Amino acid sequence: MSRPYTIMLVAVSLDGKISPRRQPGQTNPIGPELIAPEIMELHNAQRAGVDGIMVGLNCILLDDSRLTLRAGAGTNPTRVVLDGLAEMPPSARILDCSNTPTVVAVTEQAPADRVAELRQRGADIVVAGDNGRFVDLTLLMATLREDFGIKRLIVEGGGMVHRSMIADQLYDELQLIICPFVIGGAESVTPVQRGAFWPGGAVPTFALTDSEVVGDYLYVTYQPREKLRHGP
Ligand SMILES: NC(=O)c1ccc[n+]([C@@H]2O[C@H](COP(=O)([O-])OP(=O)(O)OC[C@H]3O[C@@H](n4cnc5c(N)ncnc54)[C@H](OP(=O)(O)O)[C@@H]3O)[C@@H](O)[C@H]2O)c1
Repeated sequence: MSRPYTIMLVAVSLDGKISPRRQPGQTNPIGPELIAPEIMELHNAQRAGVDGIMVGLNCILLDDSRLTLRAGAGTNPTRVVLDGLAEMPPSARILDCSNTPTVVAVTEQAPADRVAELRQRGADIVVAGDNGRFVDLTLLMATLREDFGIKRLIVEGGGMVHRSMIADQLYDELQLIICPFVIGGAESVTPVQRGAFWPGGAVPTFALTDSEVVGDYLYVTYQPREKLRHGP
């Protein structure tokens, strides 16, 4: 089954965190005030270079992300949210679909009235699997490629989504931006959340394919070793 070329994109602190643990309504301290303007610029260019951007529901609940480009920077990619049970609040900014399509991926267990409400707000609904809150990512990737024409996809988070994507071997590249700050906190969010890969399986391994220093930031790109062995 064909699927988009898929890139994990994550900004990570020097101590390996992507966000402090927060409650909805608490401001994200890892925002444009903290990140250097040239990095925000590069991030914008990365978004401009893909057909789709995907996040998990928590990114919407916590950050109310719009996932759009800066004004005048090009055509917004299609936005995709994993929301197995269609729990996204109708007020979420990403549901303003007037200029940019939003795909909400649910499972067969999503309540029909919630799905209808999201549709009414303008979202395209993809039903992928019947595993409760957990969207079937392999099925979703094929649908994004075939029905929505998404050939290149960035996945911006969060940690639970990255974990599932790695487990399902759906990443072609991992791009990490190592940032010059420390978040701390044992409860803070890391790039890959939930269960460890070992025991129960082998630890996935990757090969460094690119690196670039931008001011105090380091961009590193890795590819799965398995993929390098077998080609694209
Ligand atoms: N620094 C960065 O680059 C960066 C970028 C983006 C986000 N973030 C931060 O990351 C945090 C959010 O990350 P998070 O780990 O809490 O949550 P997350 O990965 O954003 O969201 C996980 C949500 O997606 C749902 N989901 C549906 N299908 C799934 C599947 N197949 N696999 C995994 N999840 C699935 C989960 O359902 P269940 O509820 O059933 O698990 C859960 O509700 C926020 O604090 C945000 O600010 C940082």
